[in-house]
Amino acid sequence: MSNQLVLVLDFGGQYKELIARRVRECGVYSLIKPGNLPLEEIRAMQPIGIILTGGPDSVYRDGAPKCDPALFDCGIPILGICYGIQLMAYSTGGTITSCRVSEYGRTKVRVDPACPLFEGLAEEQIGLMSHTDKISVLPQGFRSAAHTAHCENAAIADPARRLYGVQFHPEVENTPNGTEMIRNFLYRVCGAVGDYDMADYEARMIAEIRAQVGPGGRVLLGLSGGVDSSVCAALLAKAIPGRLWCIFVDHGCMRKNEGDEIEEAFRDRALNFIRVDASEEFLGALKGVTDPERKRKIIGEKFVRTFEAEAGKLNVTGCYLAQGTIYPDVIESGANNSATIKSHHNVGGLPADMGFAGLVEPLRGLFKDEVRALGRQLGLPEVLVSRQPFPGPGLAIRVLGEVTAEKLAILREADAIFREEMKKSRVRADQYFAVLTNARSVGVVGDFRTYNGTVALRAVRTTDFMTCEYAPLSHKLLGRVSTRIVNEVRGVGRVVYDITGKPPATIEWE
Ligand code: XMP
Repeated sequence: MSNQLVLVLDFGGQYKELIARRVRECGVYSLIKPGNLPLEEIRAMQPIGIILTGGPDSVYRDGAPKCDPALFDCGIPILGICYGIQLMAYSTGGTITSCRVSEYGRTKVRVDPACPLFEGLAEEQIGLMSHTDKISVLPQGFRSAAHTAHCENAAIADPARRLYGVQFHPEVENTPNGTEMIRNFLYRVCGAVGDYDMADYEARMIAEIRAQVGPGGRVLLGLSGGVDSSVCAALLAKAIPGRLWCIFVDHGCMRKNEGDEIEEAFRDRALNFIRVDASEEFLGALKGVTDPERKRKIIGEKFVRTFEAEAGKLNVTGCYLAQGTIYPDVIESGANNSATIKSHHNVGGLPADMGFAGLVEPLRGLFKDEVRALGRQLGLPEVLVSRQPFPGPGLAIRVLGEVTAEKLAILREADAIFREEMKKSRVRADQYFAVLTNARSVGVVGDFRTYNGTVALRAVRTTDFMTCEYAPLSHKLLGRVSTRIVNEVRGVGRVVYDITGKPPATIEWE
């Protein structure tokens, strides 16, 4: 595991993990460290390059985060991004001032294709800008390598010292050629050879898990069957075979056959798989409850209690608790003050007082598609690896109003038909499912009047699940699904298709 290393030095920007991820995508190992990491420590790690992240501060303000200024003379290639470019210019003798016109959003950038960062790219690029300060006087040795209508130093270069900076964010999707620019920095400036891939990541994770839990350490994992906890289980099973216990709490609100599929995938691995059928207790606790947030809270709490009771039987004192937390969970559960629209309970849901020795979260730095790639590499079945997001409370928030065993059974069948037809049609949708609404409607079957339930179908396209558009399914497909559901599922008399985007709607109905 002696891969080339690129250090990402953090100055408080929100995209540090995204930068590290782009570097990984380019086949280079990266590590995120605090911006003020001492120079000797940096040198000792022998990075082939350093990337300075963005950050919310102004470099000229007292107390603004800084790195050792000697960093810029130590011979290691550096790329400064946003705050990072300003820190680089400020520390090497340039002047930073507040912009007359701040730039936010996708901005036209004219780049110098002779600069190694932009080699192979057209002169006109789009860059995501977000800055209120700019470099007004360049430090000695630097020249401008890009400009926008309001920013003459949108990129800077000092080829002799191999120092480069960009005012915009190459790490985000809104800078369409940003990954190419990072790749150029890595391969054309730092001399990367591309010696890092998911197999290396797995090997590192396994070494870290072993180091954290020690030679005799045991680990307990709450396995939901979702992609993240499944990949976490497979990774742990490989890292510490036989010393992992996985508790799968079946709350009775899983989709058709789901519990069995999960059991099937894990039964033969080197983990002690425990399936707890707690459906009756969960349904009992949900009796008469119609408010969506109450349902979530009840299920969250009941899950914790069931997990605790099961763990208690195993004597978990001194054991580690593992969680399949991935990077986007860390952001979404972060301490921002946004209003609680729906409370998700994936992160931090388990109580701290259970006597665990510590928390093992090997996937914490990964993004979803990387987790899936790791899962495939670990040999998990495709049905688990490509699974769509499924809410912790399961079908309980897709049965509108009170949840009963009968309604769950109806929804399970309707949902299975919809998913089967969607799969066959190969239409692109990132999440799709059926909802059993609480509207009943009049119908006619033969000579008889019926008064049955209404199923709503939901299929959305999204990349981040924070916003979405409805998927434009063909009428032929919708018609086929509708016919099958009303013919094959007793209790459903009408099928509707939800064509609302998020916002204003959310993806789930509750
Ligand atoms: P919404 O409905 O908020 O959903 O637009 C966004 C994404 O989150 C999932 N979701 C949940 N996941 N617990 C979860 O673990 C929940 O309570 C929950 N509610 C929604 C939803 O399926 C979608 O992918």
